[in-house]
Amino acid sequence: MSSNKPPSDLTYSKYLKVDELISLQKPLTNPVAHDEMLFITIHQVYELWFKLILWELENTMENMNSGSLLASYRDLDRVCEIFRVLIQQIDILETMTPVDFNKFRSNLNPASGFQSGQFRELELLAGADISEYEKFFELEPEWKARLKARGAKPNLRTVFSNLLVKRGLMKDASRENLVEAIKKIYDDPKLLDLQTLCEYLIRFDEQISLWRFRHVQMVERMIGMRKGTGGSLGVPYLQSTLKKRFFPELWEARTHLGGTY
Ligand code: HEM
Repeated sequence: MSSNKPPSDLTYSKYLKVDELISLQKPLTNPVAHDEMLFITIHQVYELWFKLILWELENTMENMNSGSLLASYRDLDRVCEIFRVLIQQIDILETMTPVDFNKFRSNLNPASGFQSGQFRELELLAGADISEYEKFFELEPEWKARLKARGAKPNLRTVFSNLLVKRGLMKDASRENLVEAIKKIYDDPKLLDLQTLCEYLIRFDEQISLWRFRHVQMVERMIGMRKGTGGSLGVPYLQSTLKKRFFPELWEARTHLGGTY
């Protein structure tokens, strides 16, 4: 008998570990501040989606490496759809007023989304520079090894660049070469497979930016100009992250595509 065979008494809750899952929401306030349950639930849901995004992006990179571009489109499409859901979820959080939030906010100190290891892993997997991540290692020491390992591996950006080298569109991945290669891709109808990949990658970059924007807008609505529980300046810090892009060359090339006017 195969060891993978599911037990015959399998049920919905056993398979999905529902009992464990719904026992994980533990408010710190006593008596419980009503909206703390919403706050915990929404963050946990985010972490589950982050886990799936990381899983899907690993697959995307494998597919890009092996030249299975059609499969990589499907992975990236799924990731972008998850992001759309992540952005929409902020609407649920905004049913909470600042007054209700402040009934439990002081209990959160010094914890913050700033310390989300999976979010940092996602940024590294997309192509962020590991040398800028020391500050996050200090905040969550247990994530240090995991993030260092992730930073040492190929990322979506390097896999994309290698693909363009393999396809003979550039010699190495300098910023200039990447912009030139992208222009060639858009100019040549025979490179439609790569053009489609570029469109998926720019959409991915765009979705992360939209999430950052929506998050900072919600944060201002919730805490105004107060500092973050993670110790940053709050809104001004988050606004400074809006410039982050994983594929700046895809954006830069846009200025030169399809004519001179
Ligand atoms: C009432 C709701 C929320 C407030 C007031 C809030 C506030 C903040 C603030 C002020 C920061 C800056 C770091 C700090 O000093 O703490 C931050 C960072 C962050 N938050 Fe939130 N947040 C909220 C909800 C969420 C949710 C639902 C998520 C989903 C996981 C999230 C994920 C993050 C992430 C990933 C960062 C780091 C961003 C970066 O460094 O680029 N936050 N948040």
